[in-house]
Amino acid sequence: MFHFFSKKLFLKDLLEDFVDIHNHILPGIDDGAKNIEDSLRLIKKMKALGIKQFIPTPHVMQDFYPNTDETIGDAYQVLLGALDSKLLASITLNPAAEYMMDSHFESLLESRNLFTLKKNYVLVEMSYFQAPINLEDIIFKIKTQGYIPVLAHPERYSFYHNHLEYYERLKQLGCIFQLNLLSLSDHYGKNVEKTASYLMNEKLIDFVGTDIHNEKHISKLSNLVLNKRKHEDLKEIINHTNRTFSVI
Ligand SMILES: [Fe+2]
Repeated sequence: MFHFFSKKLFLKDLLEDFVDIHNHILPGIDDGAKNIEDSLRLIKKMKALGIKQFIPTPHVMQDFYPNTDETIGDAYQVLLGALDSKLLASITLNPAAEYMMDSHFESLLESRNLFTLKKNYVLVEMSYFQAPINLEDIIFKIKTQGYIPVLAHPERYSFYHNHLEYYERLKQLGCIFQLNLLSLSDHYGKNVEKTASYLMNEKLIDFVGTDIHNEKHISKLSNLVLNKRKHEDLKEIINHTNRTFSVI
């Protein structure tokens, strides 16, 4: 009884025409889609949620996933070749990357040879164990090379969970923040969820992304329920993400 008053607000209801700026759907080059079959399954399921614009962002991480223009370009071509023409005509697919801020990244930066999300927006991440000791220098370099650093999932860096004031500093330095949608649940743990709430409440989040690696992520996303305030705040951030990155 009274179900009318307790209608659940699903996150997935906000995903119609969402432009996903962070996912690992390119086949076989990082810890996301293992092969082309995986990629196709992920794309079809994401499309069923309403996502039609995809910016795949494979890791570029010197130690684990040393991707280059070539590996990313090849995986992209393989995927394009495997999509049937009807599906291909109904989506957009523009490859970018998620750069680990390591020394290799610094040299790529000097050559100004980066895959961007769109225009000069570059998706960057750091280790979950510690920030690079020269983090502020790297951010400065990104900016002086003419790029805008979009920090992937700031809520997941546990070394900031007890130093929430540092997030303001990162924003002052010119970082844009991209929250992972699954951080609005306990998927990555309670502390990540709490920090995600803090960042949302403080209006520090600019964009959101799915960071989908596998089908489990999609089913969790499909079942995620939000409270009214989160649902409303998220709607605005999703609109901002779409306005900034849509290519249609
Ligand atoms: Fe990622």
